[in-house]
Amino acid sequence: MAPVAPLLLISLLCGLFVDRGEGACAEVDSDTEAVAGRGFKLGCISCKKRSEVQASATVEWFFSPTGESDFKPIYTYNENGPSIEHDQFMDRIDWNGSKRSNDIQDASIYLFNVTFNDSGTYQCFLYRTLIYTNNEYQDEISKVVHLTVVAKANRTTASIVSEVMMYVSIIGLQVWLLIEMIYCYRKIAAAGEEALREAANAEYLAIASESKDNCAGVQVGE
Ligand SMILES: *[C@@H]1O[C@H](CO)[C@@H](O)[C@H](O)[C@H]1NC(C)=O
Ligand SMILES: *[C@@H]1O[C@H](CO)[C@@H](O)[C@H](O)[C@H]1NC(C)=O
Ligand SMILES: *[C@@H]1O[C@H](CO)[C@@H](O)[C@H](O)[C@H]1NC(C)=O
Repeated sequence: MAPVAPLLLISLLCGLFVDRGEGACAEVDSDTEAVAGRGFKLGCISCKKRSEVQASATVEWFFSPTGESDFKPIYTYNENGPSIEHDQFMDRIDWNGSKRSNDIQDASIYLFNVTFNDSGTYQCFLYRTLIYTNNEYQDEISKVVHLTVVAKANRTTASIVSEVMMYVSIIGLQVWLLIEMIYCYRKIAAAGEEALREAANAEYLAIASESKDNCAGVQVGE
């Protein structure tokens, strides 16, 4: 058990550092709840299945406000750079995706000063061209983010209570574990003594009965 723990720790640390590396890509889902007046990152990540293949991609984001069914283009990102295509989002969107590369895997955007009018459905499209030596392959990926906008995230009593409960239960569990350990230790120690005593008794009885048998044998023999 002992040598496993440091190994586990090392592999966890490695995982952490590798994740930060440029090459690694993980398709993390976007958050879906924004706070009015703050910024919000609309996530859209599509990892290339074969990282060694060269690729280039362009990105297009669409938006459909809550209660409407039409999607309107709001933002594109291509070889000409970013452009915002909808008045509602003028000067309010920043690129949060892959930087300094046409090989886009992260197409996330950042929304400044979120308003309640921004709630609705967002859809990002990644048009990816995989470049092989002899041919090219087109791929289209899309992801959907259902965004709800909430008023300032005041800490509710419920969340404070639940946090306190969490600590209480963590500490409670530790204490319980400790008590259980002490209890078990005592029980085992007591059982050990008992066993010793019993063993001694058994030995005594065995010797006694053996000698009785011997006596009996002697009697029978006569
Ligand atoms: C996303 O863009 C915003 C605005 O430019 C910036 O403040 C934020 O740090 C960026 N986040 C990431 C993860 O790049
Ligand atoms: C966001 O709102 C603040 C305060 O209203 C303002 O100063 C800032 O310029 C706004 N930012 C953007 C990108 O609109
Ligand atoms: C939200 O939309 C309504 C109706 O279209 C409009 O009157 C209002 O000014 C908008 N609010 C913001 C903060 O853009």
